[in-house]
Amino acid sequence: MCGIIGYTGRQEAASILLEGLKRLEYRGYDSAGIAVCTQTQPVPRILKKAARVEVLSRMAKEARMGGSCGIGHTRWATHGGVSDRNAHPHLSSDGAIILAHNGVIENYVQLRNSLSALGYTFASETDTEVLANLVAMHLARLEKSGLGENLLEEAVRMALAEVEGTYGIAVLRSGHPDEIVGARKGSPLVLGVGRNENMIASDVTAFGGRMQNVVYLEDGQIVRMCRDDFVISTLSNQSVSPVLNEINWRLEDAELGSFPHFMLKEIFEQPTSLENAMRGRFSQDGSTAQFGGLNMSARELRQVDRILFLGCGTAWHACQLAKHMIERYARIPVDVEYSSEFRYRNSPLEKNTLVFTISQSGETLDTLEAQREAQRKGYRVLGISNVVGSTIARENDGGIFQHSGPEIGVASTKAFTAQVLVATMLALYFGRMRDLSFADGREMVKAFQSLPGLVSQVLGHAAEVERIAKKYADCNDFLFLGRLEMFPIALEGALKLKEISYIHAEGYPAAEMKHGPIALICPECPTVAIAMAGEMFRKCVSSIQEVKARKGPVIVITDCPDELPDGLADELLLIPSAHQCILPILTTIPLQLLSYHIAVARGCDVDKPRNLAKSVTVE
Ligand code: AGP
Repeated sequence: MCGIIGYTGRQEAASILLEGLKRLEYRGYDSAGIAVCTQTQPVPRILKKAARVEVLSRMAKEARMGGSCGIGHTRWATHGGVSDRNAHPHLSSDGAIILAHNGVIENYVQLRNSLSALGYTFASETDTEVLANLVAMHLARLEKSGLGENLLEEAVRMALAEVEGTYGIAVLRSGHPDEIVGARKGSPLVLGVGRNENMIASDVTAFGGRMQNVVYLEDGQIVRMCRDDFVISTLSNQSVSPVLNEINWRLEDAELGSFPHFMLKEIFEQPTSLENAMRGRFSQDGSTAQFGGLNMSARELRQVDRILFLGCGTAWHACQLAKHMIERYARIPVDVEYSSEFRYRNSPLEKNTLVFTISQSGETLDTLEAQREAQRKGYRVLGISNVVGSTIARENDGGIFQHSGPEIGVASTKAFTAQVLVATMLALYFGRMRDLSFADGREMVKAFQSLPGLVSQVLGHAAEVERIAKKYADCNDFLFLGRLEMFPIALEGALKLKEISYIHAEGYPAAEMKHGPIALICPECPTVAIAMAGEMFRKCVSSIQEVKARKGPVIVITDCPDELPDGLADELLLIPSAHQCILPILTTIPLQLLSYHIAVARGCDVDKPRNLAKSVTVE
């Protein structure tokens, strides 16, 4: 959802900015731009294009930008179409201010009208250019008054006081080739602290191992930095003592290595990411899970009567899985809501309700606001998140980190399976506080411990999934069916396919198919059916029979192929037999591979699908 970056130091800024933008490109990739200050030119040079960072890099090479201080942006369009003009950074019409922005300025129309009346002009349709002119207007007034120091920081502060909406910004001032001001509200911004160089960016991956320490800025904070120093303060000009954090991931985690796409790399990383999500989280007697960061005593947790899970997209599917698992193993009623609906729905919550948010990025605005709404009502909110230092993780009352490592592919894979794993471990944890026996707990722990090996085994069938994907890649409709806890997995399979291959796909509880979606069944509409051994197997087989009777091709994911009637499945994807608590994760793997290979076969841009962005920081 737009990535911003700023660098000031002693090295050539353009290449550092472009390298960082490449790493931020997952946040938005319809346009990219950089602005660089040089000692010789009064106004920074701006290079921007409605194109990928790769194209901009080629342009920058030819342009020989020079300079060691600059800002950059990679865009996911909100206000104004995808065009060179609307790409960031934006220059104020008096040439004084250059600004890159992530977020939405909601009162931009009123601000634009008053600035126009003062003679400021606009070359784009964006809300960002309004902000650039607003800062410029305040800067001009401050310069005229001849009062004060740090005029850029002051002008930014004054402008932001007039703004309604969300922003993460990076701002340059013409003629000041070693000064950048950043600020945030609702959109992430991290300060990178290096030796004789400092950076700001939407997330730490942009620094690419360059910075030794980072400071996660809070909403309502402003940072002013030059190459040798930085100062953080609040919008109301209170000084802030920075808390320096070490960067907790390795550079190669965010590199492609030998894989053609991040999505494939991340699918194959799952044995490790699942291992990491479990590390140190089982009790010594091997009968339950344990979590360090819940900040709640066993007594408090025992008093929880109801749990509410909040999330969006794939994370919402993980919430649905959490419901199945916690209700099954801990017998605590669980509700699930879309974060975007919860924040406006004013739902009546019962007294002893514990709220959980699930968010890979920890920056999804709908989930952040839902969390704030629940906290405002006085509920305790715990979070499951992948990004340490993210806004959701910092603002919640405790929680669990997934430790999946950076997920770069826009389509979530390893983060989803880790969320499902953590949710199922929570089910065990709550269950052991209630009626789940020691022996049942031990069985579950053993199953979790076998998971990385079993996932590797499923990944061993990747070539078979690829063959099936190629066979059905031309179909334009897919149905995904599953029952009970396999229903959210069917939903996730459908979402994955539509996200990256633009194929229409729907997920249903298998028995619901006959109540409407059955009308879609025809030889051109394949059905992916999850039919696992156990209580629902025969019911799933009946639903598959209904598909076959209407000449629909069927791809069956199963752990008991021998029990399927002859000729029922056109294609089989095998899952090893395992404890019920880990089957949702195992069945997810072939669905991820299926959508990946279909998208590749259709020539789609797997890691950067059209219209999407990894981290959705607007409403
Ligand atoms: C996942 O494949 C999607 N790109 C999307 O649905 C995502 O899960 C959703 O936007 C929530 O993101 P979060 O987990 O970072 O909050």
